[in-house]
Amino acid sequence: MSPPYMITSDESLQIPQFSEGYRLRPIELADYKRGALDVLKNLTTVGDISREEFSELVKMWQRNPEIYHTYVIMNPLDKVVAIGSIIIEAKLIHHCGKVGHIEDIAVNSSEQGKRLGLSLIRYLLALGRKNGCYKVILDCDPANEGFYLKCGLSRAGYEMEYRF
Ligand code: ACO
Repeated sequence: MSPPYMITSDESLQIPQFSEGYRLRPIELADYKRGALDVLKNLTTVGDISREEFSELVKMWQRNPEIYHTYVIMNPLDKVVAIGSIIIEAKLIHHCGKVGHIEDIAVNSSEQGKRLGLSLIRYLLALGRKNGCYKVILDCDPANEGFYLKCGLSRAGYEMEYRF
């Protein structure tokens, strides 16, 4: 059976249109004051990140656009309400193939259930396709499996970790 949403062509890379003035765009330095870190607190511990630390990291991403792609969804009040990244890994296997890693997806609790997460994932998948990835992978909590299945992904393998 086909997944519910197929990323079939570069047309999928068009920025999705949202109702009520929501919009998707790459992260900017000024998103520090627009709530980017607060959105990530819906996912995990973020820590006390200064404006300078935030700027240094975003600038490093911007200097490496072939690897790092972090996008935000803004609401009509110009607040960040969703965030997520795809990191493009260049490999030797599969004839110097590329794999996309989707990381750190979060939607503000007050904005969940509006299909913002789905739109963000679909866009990141399309970005992976456009950048030549032969697959895109991610790790998630079992509680989010249903969400990712609805985004068209399927379960594969086990997650392993070594914590420091
Ligand atoms: N389990 C099953 N189905 C779900 C779940 C879930 N946990 N969450 C959403 N869905 C369904 C929705 O009902 C909807 O179904 P429909 O198409 O039939 O209406 C569909 O998935 C799309 O849902 P969205 O409205 O796009 O989901 P939302 O915008 O709320 O975002 C997300 C989902 C990102 C999981 C959000 O709830 C969130 O931020 N949670 C807290 C942080 C988190 O866990 N992030 C994911 C970490 S994994 C990672 O970063 C790789």
